[in-house]
Amino acid sequence: MFKNLQAKWKVNGWQMALILITFAIGGSLTGLTGRKLLALTGMVHSVPYYILHVVVMTLLWPFAVLLVSVPMGQYPFFIKYIRRMLGRLAGKSHAKVVEEQLAEGQLAVGSIKLPVIKIAIFASGAGSNAQKIIEHFRTDDSVEVALIVCNKPGAGVLSIAANEGIATILIDKEPFFRGNAYVPELQSAGIGFIVLAGFLWKIPLALIKAYPNKIVNIHPALLPNYGGKGMYGHFVHEAVIANGDAESGITIHYVDEHYDHGSTIFKATCPVFGGDTAATLASRIHKLEHEHYPRVIGECLKKLQ
Ligand code: GRF
Repeated sequence: MFKNLQAKWKVNGWQMALILITFAIGGSLTGLTGRKLLALTGMVHSVPYYILHVVVMTLLWPFAVLLVSVPMGQYPFFIKYIRRMLGRLAGKSHAKVVEEQLAEGQLAVGSIKLPVIKIAIFASGAGSNAQKIIEHFRTDDSVEVALIVCNKPGAGVLSIAANEGIATILIDKEPFFRGNAYVPELQSAGIGFIVLAGFLWKIPLALIKAYPNKIVNIHPALLPNYGGKGMYGHFVHEAVIANGDAESGITIHYVDEHYDHGSTIFKATCPVFGGDTAATLASRIHKLEHEHYPRVIGECLKKLQ
C-alpha cells in the first residue's frame, strides 16, 4: 500500500517515512491539545460534548500536522496536501484536484486512473463534428466515444463510425418517441454523456430524464435567435443572411425538452459578409464548431469526473 502511495505522491522511501511519522505525531498532538482544550470547557460527556470533540479535532489537525511537518522538513508536502483536502471539501471535482496536482508535479503521471466516461454522439448527417470529437478524445484515457446513434440510413456519420471502429445504433421513430427512447440500449453500453452533433430529431423527455444535464447540442447560430423547429442547416444561414445580420456564430447548450432551448454553455461569433451565401456562411460556422465543440465537451465532462 505504501509503495502505491509513494509512487502516487512521487516521494522516495525516506521521505515517505518522514511523512508517515509526521502524520502519527501530528495526530497525537491533535488528540493531546484537543483534550486539553475540551477539559477547559468543563463539559460533561454528552452528545454536544462529542460533537464539539469532532469539530475541535478536525480544526486542530491541519495546524498540528503543519507544525510537526516543519522540523520533519515536510512542510512543502503537507501544505499542498491540506490545500488539496480543503479543495475537495469545497466541492472541487476529483478531476480538477488531480489536474492541479499534476500541474504542481505533486502526482506522478500514470499513477491516477480517472473513471472512463463513455459518450454517445447522436448525428443525422455528414458527421464532420463527430469526426473532430472522436479525434479530440482519441488520446484521452478518461473519455471514450463508445457509440454513434443515427436516425438516417446511409448518413456520412455511419461511414465515419465504421472507419473508426465505433459501434452504431440506427434508431427508429416509434421506439424513440413513443417507446423507451433507446435508454436501455444506451445504459447497457455504459453511456454516461450524450453529444448531439447535427442530430435532427427532437430529444424525447424519457431520454432527457435518463441523462439530466448530460446531453449537449451545438446550434449553428447565436441562440435564442434562429432556433426552434425547422431551424437547422441551410435554413438557419439563409435566415441570418436574409435578416442582414453582420454577425452569426455557434451556441453550445444543454438540452431540455424544447428545441434549441437549454442553458447556454458557450458561444462564439463570426462575421457575415455582404456576398455570403448559406454555403459560405455554413463553412465559416463549421470551422468555429470544429475549433470549439470538442474542447467545450471536454470541459463539461471534467465537471462530471
Ligand atoms: C452543424 O452545423 C451543427 O451545428 C448542426 O448540424 C451541423 C452538423 O454538421 N446542428 P456535421 O454533420 O457535423 O458536419
